[in-house]
Amino acid sequence: MERYVISGGRPLKGTVPICGAKNAAVAILPAVICSDEPCVIDNIPNISDVEAIIDIMRWMGARIERLSPGRIRIDATTITSCEVPAEMSRKMRASYYFLGALLSRFSRAHVSLPGGCDLGPRPIDQHLKSFSGLGCQWKVEHGNVVVWCDGRLRADHIFFDTVSVGATINAMLAAVKAEGTTILENVAKEPHIVDVANFLNSMGGDVRGAGTDVIKIHGSQYLRGTDYSIVPDQIEAGTFMAAAAATRGDLLITNVIPKHLESIASKLELMGSEITEYDDAIRVRHLGPIRPTNIKTAPHPGFPTDMQPQMAVLLAMAEGTSIITEGIWESRFKYVDELRRMGAQIQLDTGGRAAVVQGVKELAPAALRAPDLRAGAALVIAALSAKGESTISDVSHIERGYENIVGKLSAVGADIRRETVDSGEN
Ligand code: EPU
Repeated sequence: MERYVISGGRPLKGTVPICGAKNAAVAILPAVICSDEPCVIDNIPNISDVEAIIDIMRWMGARIERLSPGRIRIDATTITSCEVPAEMSRKMRASYYFLGALLSRFSRAHVSLPGGCDLGPRPIDQHLKSFSGLGCQWKVEHGNVVVWCDGRLRADHIFFDTVSVGATINAMLAAVKAEGTTILENVAKEPHIVDVANFLNSMGGDVRGAGTDVIKIHGSQYLRGTDYSIVPDQIEAGTFMAAAAATRGDLLITNVIPKHLESIASKLELMGSEITEYDDAIRVRHLGPIRPTNIKTAPHPGFPTDMQPQMAVLLAMAEGTSIITEGIWESRFKYVDELRRMGAQIQLDTGGRAAVVQGVKELAPAALRAPDLRAGAALVIAALSAKGESTISDVSHIERGYENIVGKLSAVGADIRRETVDSGEN
């Protein structure tokens, strides 16, 4: 078992480069299956969720060649199977993108119900609604989702009941080669939605309106190869922004799109951080106390749920009381028990959708366990802020989404190391 040992209390100072976005990469790699020619994808983060997707594509028969770090060539035209094996697809949530991608190519897909972070119920009814609209039938059998259509998928006007990132992307993938013009309404608008649409368009697809509430897709018969670079990771950047503020540090975070970071930057400013935006970088400096504020998560352009745990660490050290309301997931406060071990004063409401955070002067070091990806990142920030030695176990959750987090933090002054211990020891 791997764990991090962190000796906290040092301000982070220096420059941190940001990788390509996890949630764009895990959609764009399966989307290569829609292409009729090989593609080159650049700025791919080196994280375990991406490795799991690449393993699945290799298993299915794609030819994958690493050209340089973060840059790979994928020939998915050699794929003949429209089935993803259960033990592989259950490793991560994003395996559901194979449904849309395989449907676009074979009009048939067979994928196990996805795994990923346990954030409460994670239904896929809206994904299935869009596939039905496009003329498919589906059944869920022994934990497997099977979707099929006789002949080519047919365009439809689909109104989503819930704003869903996954369902929006899956519908785009399934519709990109469908016959006619598909209209998707009440769609998600996150930066990775726009990135997937840009990727499909770079292959000659015709996807318009991504980033707004309505997306129109004119189905294409043929998609050519492309050389595409993945958008920078909004959440990795936001995590380092929060780490800079929590440690009263000064970080220049590079290779970002500052526009994608506005909701995070404006909250940090309210909390007392000094933010400077550049063309493709953002600087976060925090000298004084942390001021309390309220946070409510919502679909983009609202405050991202994937940044809620990291911001809670800051609020746990603020001078006053803050309220955090989680608007997306039922179970995104699993870090609260861990922060309480560090002396944080956080009360959850009975429904578990809101937390009242009474700031304390400082957090104390503790032995911690990462319950999921973003909660794990939050605990890293908490340990970096607490004077003394903390340990964090179950770091595989963190490494699903953060490339070389130990190396990047060490390079800006953190005292953090990764070590292997016998299971049971922490
Ligand atoms: N929902 C439904 N039906 C559906 C789909 C979703 O009711 O068919 C509900 C969900 O239960 C949830 C809400 O809609 O309450 C939003 O879910 P969404 O589908 O947008 O989430 P997702 O696609 O499963 C992606 C990210 C998550 C991120 C959410 C919200 C990926 C692989 N995952 O999940 O990222 O929290 O969007 O922005 O893109 C993370 O990176 O740590 C992470 C969990």
